Amino acid sequence: MTVEPQAEQGVSGADGSGLLDVEHLRVLFPIKSGLVIDRQVGQVHAVDDVSFQLREGETLGVVGESGCGKTTLIRALVRLIDATSGAIRFRGQDITKAGRGQLEPIRREMQMVFQDPQASLNPRKRVGQILATPLRIRGVEKGKIETESRDLLERVGLHPEHLNRFPHEFSGGQRQRIGIARALAVEPLLILLDEPVSALDVSIQAQVINLLEGLQDDLHLSYIFVAHDLSVVRHVSDRIIVMYLGKVMEVSPSEELYAKPIHPYTSALLSAIPIPDPKENRARERTVITGEPPNPINPPSGCRFHTRCPRATEICRRVEPQLSEYEGGHLAACHHPQNVTAEEIASVTRSPTTPISAGDELPGAEEAGSYRAPVGADAPADS
Ligand SMILES: Nc1ncnc2c1ncn2[C@@H]1O[C@H](COP(=O)(O)OP(=O)(O)OP(=O)(O)O)[C@@H](O)[C@H]1O
Ligand code: SF4
Ligand SMILES: [Mg+2]
Repeated sequence: MTVEPQAEQGVSGADGSGLLDVEHLRVLFPIKSGLVIDRQVGQVHAVDDVSFQLREGETLGVVGESGCGKTTLIRALVRLIDATSGAIRFRGQDITKAGRGQLEPIRREMQMVFQDPQASLNPRKRVGQILATPLRIRGVEKGKIETESRDLLERVGLHPEHLNRFPHEFSGGQRQRIGIARALAVEPLLILLDEPVSALDVSIQAQVINLLEGLQDDLHLSYIFVAHDLSVVRHVSDRIIVMYLGKVMEVSPSEELYAKPIHPYTSALLSAIPIPDPKENRARERTVITGEPPNPINPPSGCRFHTRCPRATEICRRVEPQLSEYEGGHLAACHHPQNVTAEEIASVTRSPTTPISAGDELPGAEEAGSYRAPVGADAPADS
């Protein structure tokens, strides 16, 4: 799973592009009112100025609370919904506004696996029929479809004889394996997984995650793996994006994010993960955030997290923080970063993926100083 630096691995195009390049992507849903005349009275800021690059063979985790825009983001990436603005490039090709003809071959290379395997499989079709459709799309000859379907079932850990069963005759974990087999049938390069294990028991979650990791190694797949819980994406992801109210708050190599979260919101998400050892659990300091996320129709000014952040000060309410680049490819958008030294803050630079709307203020060393907060430390005094 470990991804080598791009240059060594040769994953970037000559122009520095990744497998998927997302630039300042926005998805705003209009809110209409009026029975006779349909008037737009506002918009939901579901995905608001999100930029990142996915490298070939990489697993990128996307986490955040319910409603932060994870599903909208990946649905926009596979063009199930239209972006309001910004750009999506797949293997260097701009697909943001691609029509049906241009999208057809690309849809084969980008597949989605959904959270609810029960709802995503047609209950009236046998597994063989469910798999036959994508195999035909791939151009597999009629006479070879059954053999290919059997191979696919074996690849995802099911019996080839299951071909004649209906979806309701399987357990939840098995149904998710069928969903994965269906995605694999077209030989994709990228699979976007929307909470693929959230509906499953913990023991089954581990089995499905192991399956996905094995498939990635064998087939050199890339994944975008959405979850609302940081514990699920930890082992499967090379890098993790933390989202809040449509915005990117932090991007980091996976292990670094757990060892040294820079953004207070990430600390809060980490604090919510239970530790199995009760003693260790009691001893741990926590960042507790209260209340629900604000309304995405009218998001807070400045830093979107300021209404719930224990470290918020005046500048947070006024100025949207830049997405700043720390050492080791670790990005965070916060005026008062945690777990970083004054030297690290001094060497910080503006990330090219910073939202267009963000201010010019880099994190101030004089505010954070050499403050090296453990997760859950108190906020600095208001400046
Ligand atoms: N078609 C739509 N029309 C209007 N608003 C929408 C639409 N789809 C999603 N939203 C809103 O956009 C925001 C982001 O929704 P989204 O489903 O992407 O969140 P999510 O992070 O996937 O949440 P969850 O973890 O619950 O699945 C929410 O406020 C949601 O209500
Ligand atoms: S300290 Fe300020 S900028 Fe940082 S997360 Fe809290 S509110 Fe946002
Ligand atoms: Mg969702």
